[in-house]
Amino acid sequence: MLLHLSDLHFGTEKPECLMAIQQFCRDHPIEAIAVSGDLTQRARFLQFLSCKYFLERLNLPYLVVPGNHDIPLYHVFNRVFSPFARYQAFFGALEGVLETEHFYLLGVNSIRRRHHTKGHISLAQIQEIDARLRSAPAHKLKIVVVHQPFYTSPEDGHAVKDCPVLGRMALEIWGQQGLFGLLHGHLHQTAYYDLNRIYQLGLDHPVFEIHAGTATSHRLRKGQPNSFNVVTTQGGLQHYVFDVQSREFIRQPS
Ligand SMILES: [Fe+2]
Repeated sequence: MLLHLSDLHFGTEKPECLMAIQQFCRDHPIEAIAVSGDLTQRARFLQFLSCKYFLERLNLPYLVVPGNHDIPLYHVFNRVFSPFARYQAFFGALEGVLETEHFYLLGVNSIRRRHHTKGHISLAQIQEIDARLRSAPAHKLKIVVVHQPFYTSPEDGHAVKDCPVLGRMALEIWGQQGLFGLLHGHLHQTAYYDLNRIYQLGLDHPVFEIHAGTATSHRLRKGQPNSFNVVTTQGGLQHYVFDVQSREFIRQPS
């Protein structure tokens, strides 16, 4: 299974959630972990260090992408001239690739210092991912990890204008290469959609838009508990929420 964590926001993390994730990783056959951005609260050195230490200690392959909280907010010089310096000092490439027995994961950096909340993807990124998907093994689940959602429902209190402008174009191109789904964070709200149906992409398979809540942070939104997602090796989607009483993540009925 693939564990999808998001919006860890180290600096506002809850130790009980960190410990529960560690236990979950010991108890389940996890093949890889994807973290869809906002590793830190304010892109501080110690916050990145804590996040790195936490992920390394899980002792599993993982792929991370930056979120809008992972570039400096108040330090204007760094924000303009080296926004990703700290992120890269700890995590290296902004757009990694992780291939495991059942999954083919591609990270996409949607963070720009000008569009840091809404996010942005470029034509070059769309082409790069398209090329990688074309050469990916056909039998693996092809998944893109990117911080900002490509679709939000008006019922969730968000609008399509909150999504990267070229997101829909990317979907049309990546969908033709057998994209299974996209893993996002940012909204701190859990949601699943089939974008093939919603955007009428005309594909013969679904393209899942998978939003994760915050797995570990106090920054809960609309009363939603801490949570994460799991993608099974068969392409099933599972949702787990943190239970305060038992101090563990509990699977929710689908
Ligand atoms: Fe966040």
